[in-house]
Amino acid sequence: MCGIVAYVGPRDAVPILTEGLARLEYRGYDSAGLAVVGRSGDLRVRKAKVRVGELAAELPARFKGAPGIGHTRWATHGEPSDLNAHPHVARNIAVVHNGIIENADELRAELTADGVVLTSETDSEVLPHLIARSGADELEDAVRDALSRVVGTYGIAVVDTRHPDVLVAARNGSPVVLGIGEKEMFVASDVAALVRYTRQVVHLDDGELATVRADGFRTSTLDRRATSKEPSVIEAEEAAYDAEGYTHFMRKEIHEQPGAVERALRGRVDLRFHTAHLGGLNLDPREAREIRRVKILGCGSAYYAGQVGAQLIEELARIPADAEPASEFRYRNPVVQPDTLYVAVSQSGETYDTLAAVQELKRKGGRVLGVVNAVGSAIARECDGGVYLHAGPEIAVASTKAYTSTAVVFALIALHLGRIHDLSPADGRRIAEGLRALPAQIEEILKQEDRIAELAREFAAYRSMLFIGRVRGWPVAREGAQKLKEVSYVHAEAYPASELKHGPLALVSPELPAVAVVPDDELLDKNLSTLGEIRARRGRVLTVGHRELGDDAIVIPKNEPELDPILLSIPLQLLAYHAAVTLGHDVDKPRNLAKSVTVE
Ligand code: F6R
Repeated sequence: MCGIVAYVGPRDAVPILTEGLARLEYRGYDSAGLAVVGRSGDLRVRKAKVRVGELAAELPARFKGAPGIGHTRWATHGEPSDLNAHPHVARNIAVVHNGIIENADELRAELTADGVVLTSETDSEVLPHLIARSGADELEDAVRDALSRVVGTYGIAVVDTRHPDVLVAARNGSPVVLGIGEKEMFVASDVAALVRYTRQVVHLDDGELATVRADGFRTSTLDRRATSKEPSVIEAEEAAYDAEGYTHFMRKEIHEQPGAVERALRGRVDLRFHTAHLGGLNLDPREAREIRRVKILGCGSAYYAGQVGAQLIEELARIPADAEPASEFRYRNPVVQPDTLYVAVSQSGETYDTLAAVQELKRKGGRVLGVVNAVGSAIARECDGGVYLHAGPEIAVASTKAYTSTAVVFALIALHLGRIHDLSPADGRRIAEGLRALPAQIEEILKQEDRIAELAREFAAYRSMLFIGRVRGWPVAREGAQKLKEVSYVHAEAYPASELKHGPLALVSPELPAVAVVPDDELLDKNLSTLGEIRARRGRVLTVGHRELGDDAIVIPKNEPELDPILLSIPLQLLAYHAAVTLGHDVDKPRNLAKSVTVE
């Protein structure tokens, strides 16, 4: 949610900022803006309710300078508009902000009473005014003074024309990473904006502030204690952040899944003892045996992947397990038990609701593991241990490869816990071998893309669709409906197949097709009855499973029944993608959404 980028050094900041912002647009694309310190020491600002590309194309040739800051917005306070776009300015100071200032109303009232004229409806605009009023000589101290007044979350970058050699950045709850170059420095919300210029980065911690000059940086806490930071090296190659010839990141990421799953499995499957090795769990066998319950928390697709995970853990390890939206869990004063293992799931590692759930658990003494993609992210750091997905950067707003990798990691966790509990060596071997088969089977499914695209073109004509699945198929149906809604804006409702006759069957008609997830498992007969009930009401059915069952069918390779859900989602990703393309939507940047939801 909102991307910030900043540069200090000898070059003109503008192309660096616009390039960086373009790579951060997945975080929000309601408006874009830049501020640079011009050669004559003046502050140059351009911002508008446009995408970054448009802003960059319309910059006058003389719009140059450094240091500079840039922003791409996902609106929270105040509608998307030119005035609400960042940077926000007060006198000689410009600020870009990602996060939410919770006491903004109070601060706005106070500033207005003092005669300050606020020109936007945003919470962020209070920041430059508070900084400008500080009276401190050093920008760093002025920012500290301002932040001491603020309640809420922020990742900020600040420039001040009176200090043209310095940038100040600070973090509380919204990510900020510094990029270390050769006599130049960068600041951004995400390494995606920096990877073209440097591979050496430093992640700020919450409550930390950085004073950044071309020749280096200094970090300290808000109460002025110096901190020391070890740079780390960006893991992924620069190409991983590019669409690399694909029309959309979503399609690229769908096709990257065989490799992503391969990486999730690498070094973790033990074909000798038929188990999985997951050192990051930090659980010795005795502790693992004492786990009485597993509770998985995540939001959106991460939650659905967690639901697949809960079923795997319950089936393979016979430990009661369930998944719950982290966004609900954190608000309901949950009972936290010492023999429950909590698992937080997040691609970005930034989702505020998930982070807040982890923090609440930690406050109550819960043990929380993370299943996270973004290395070193807030959620990963907050957890007591965990497993990284190694799926590589996921840029498209709709999650695909991270969803699949999460389900695979849960299969590894389930295998690991299962072999410590009561999973037999024979079943362990069956699952371990099934896992090894996944990448090639995903390749097989991807080869059916043309046929799935054809179906998508037909189904995109409907206004609404039903997605159904039973037990293992249920989270698959939910994730399938979620993907379709997100990128194609076709209404999709997911229902357990078993619940259809308890209500939604009333909706079934030739105008409401159903996508039925029907694997060849022990529930096949039950699912066939449900399909019969739909057909009797002249509903059109598209089945996804291991044989041709519906009016239309997508047939996928058979794995072990417990692992089938991992494969069953892949055709539904392609279905959603091609439906969105058919309808002419901006697939990678669906309306109203942003990739990492760092607000409540
Ligand atoms: C759906 C999607 C979202 C995210 C959710 C959690 O395609 O991408 O539902 O899954 O916002 O995000 P992370 O996994 O980053 O915590």
